Amino acid sequence: MHGKAKDSWRIATKAIHGFGGGDPHTGSVSLPIYQTSTYAFKDSQHGADLFQGEAEGYIYSRISNPTVQAFEREIACLEGGEVGHGFASGMAAIFNAVMTECKSGDSYVVSETVYGGTHALNEHVMPRFGVKAIEVDATDLNKVEDAIKKAKNCKVLLFETPANPTLAILDIKELTELGHKYNLTVMVDNTFATPILQRPLEHGVDVIIHSTTKYISGHGDVVGGCVVAKKEFMDRLDVDVYIDTGATMAPLSAWLLLRGLKTLPIRMAKHCENAHKIAQFLAFHPKVTKVHFPGLKSHPGYELAKRQMSDFGGMIAFEIKGGFEDGKKVMDAVELHTVAVSLGDCDSLICHPASTTHSTYEKDQREAAGILDNMIRISVGIEDPRDLMDDLNQALRAI
Ligand SMILES: Cc1ncc(COP(=O)(O)O)c(C=O)c1O
Repeated sequence: MHGKAKDSWRIATKAIHGFGGGDPHTGSVSLPIYQTSTYAFKDSQHGADLFQGEAEGYIYSRISNPTVQAFEREIACLEGGEVGHGFASGMAAIFNAVMTECKSGDSYVVSETVYGGTHALNEHVMPRFGVKAIEVDATDLNKVEDAIKKAKNCKVLLFETPANPTLAILDIKELTELGHKYNLTVMVDNTFATPILQRPLEHGVDVIIHSTTKYISGHGDVVGGCVVAKKEFMDRLDVDVYIDTGATMAPLSAWLLLRGLKTLPIRMAKHCENAHKIAQFLAFHPKVTKVHFPGLKSHPGYELAKRQMSDFGGMIAFEIKGGFEDGKKVMDAVELHTVAVSLGDCDSLICHPASTTHSTYEKDQREAAGILDNMIRISVGIEDPRDLMDDLNQALRAI
């Protein structure tokens, strides 16, 4: 397979001609799916040398696989980082990244508005390993600094921006400087933005995390995750957590993700364009009380998003007149949108975070994080936006 990306190439060229292309042995223009669990050693000494790190090559696909490696090189190239690492899911990526820095007795500070699975990891899983997560309103730097100061053996500052599902925008540069002031490893979940719209490593962040299930796949057919960071961090991740816990990305997933990356720049452009139109339409709709979309001037993160993102993304949350039951009525009335969790697909997906993706929060925590009962989230797809607006319009008549 070719590893030919040039630094001078723009991101859309890198996405197509980076590290996923072809097979020099056969001329196949599509990268082979190396569907193998194990690799033959030349002889017993070769096997021993590979295990000792004295020879380069493949041992076993839980450790590494050529198709997965091509994806890892490609995502590192797009994020502008040293090394990429594939995982079985976004949650596996977050767990591995945090556990690389934290052991029993340590803690990490994390933004309070995050994907519900990340919240559940913070609240339910990490304490089982003696690791404490402190969730904080990360739009307020003073609160973050207070939380870091109070935390015992704090090792990591982790945040999501734009945040799922409220689309809150956090200041990557300022939070990173703050984290580094206290020697923390700063990690950003870049799932909503993708490297096309936001490259946190350029703001000094140490570790990028993605659920590749979302925009990077783009077609709703893969569950995967990845981390991009410096080699020094990734070597520790491999040895201390990954290899012996085994949340491995499958070769077929890597191949589908490489295919997804080729169209990521044009898909993101269309997601952004459609989302902007739909956010403007909802902002004037009489049944809608508030629209959360960072591309609207009324959004508190508008100026910041303009500075740190190249466009505003394809996700919208909005609040409707009424409560939980009215939200359900709207969801049951849509015809074109698919009522489903997940996001980033070509198809528009609509969900009610309070009862689904973020039901892991206690009600008071959820409200503090701005995830309200009357909030609906849309992952705006790449259909004709006029059809999407017609569908929302007729669905909103249900209330
Ligand atoms: C922002 C964000 N991070 C992480 C995850 C978890 O990813 P996965 O479902 O691939 O484990 C999700 C899932 O929705 C997400 O939205």
